[in-house]
Amino acid sequence: MNDVYVHGYDSRERARLHDQAGTLVDLLHADTSYPEGSVVLEAGCGIGAQTVTLARNSPYARILSVDISAESVADAKARVNAAGLTNVQFQQADIFALPFAPESFDHLFICFVLEHLARPDAALHVLKSLLRPGGTITVIEGDHGSTYFHPDSEEASKAVRCLVELQRAAGGNALIGRQLYPLLVEASFDAAHVAPRMVYVDSSKPELVESFTKKTFTAMIEGVRESAIEAGIVQAEVFDAGIRALYRTAEADGVFCYTFFKAVGEKARRA
Ligand SMILES: C[S@@+](CC[C@H](N)C(=O)[O-])C[C@H]1O[C@@H](n2cnc3c(N)ncnc32)[C@H](O)[C@@H]1O
Repeated sequence: MNDVYVHGYDSRERARLHDQAGTLVDLLHADTSYPEGSVVLEAGCGIGAQTVTLARNSPYARILSVDISAESVADAKARVNAAGLTNVQFQQADIFALPFAPESFDHLFICFVLEHLARPDAALHVLKSLLRPGGTITVIEGDHGSTYFHPDSEEASKAVRCLVELQRAAGGNALIGRQLYPLLVEASFDAAHVAPRMVYVDSSKPELVESFTKKTFTAMIEGVRESAIEAGIVQAEVFDAGIRALYRTAEADGVFCYTFFKAVGEKARRA
């Protein structure tokens, strides 16, 4: 697999992914649960930030979570064990070379992975072959173009665009949320339905200010400072002013908005 993965595996990124999932659980997962006995493949589980919620929300489903990174799989396993969940198995595997029989899963779940792949369409085709007819796929992605805030700031928008540019240069797409519907349709999933999930944060929600505006989103943008400057995409002063402006949106009169996209599609039943 030659897709380059922008977000690092360092401890700050791990903590960020964990914070992210913790604050977005209701928004992203409240309507996902799988019936008793169903077999679910989670593709690209990372450190298990979503796996814990999946397993909790579907205690009688069997979840198989895979990731290309053996280290992440080990972390995910430890996280799920620590949560006392027993309905998840883990395997290190590449989405493009999964060692499973065709049509062996009832449902597929994939979150924040397609944005990192040069061929998200190919990934969906591979995954679909593993799904039984009548089974569903659930895809969740963000879209950094959906970011807006008060006070507005050109520097902040430039800092956000640095991540979009770097991810594009690495073969990914930080604006993929808006493409989930056409991607599912192109992969011939039936009944594709996309629900935008907007995170709206103002100072009446201090927990979201901390966990989403600061620790998730701004921390993620801050994390590409050196790469963006090195790549010549931005000057250090502009980037730093952008980060200050993003933190400024976390103050008493600030507002921060971001939209995730959650898509569900079905594999056609045989006639
Ligand atoms: C941003 S993380 C998301 C992890 C998790 N789904 C979550 O929501 O926290 C993207 C994950 O996709 C994994 N990944 C990227 N390419 C992959 C591939 N070809 N096969 C399997 N996993 C892959 C990475 O190793 C990483 O753990």
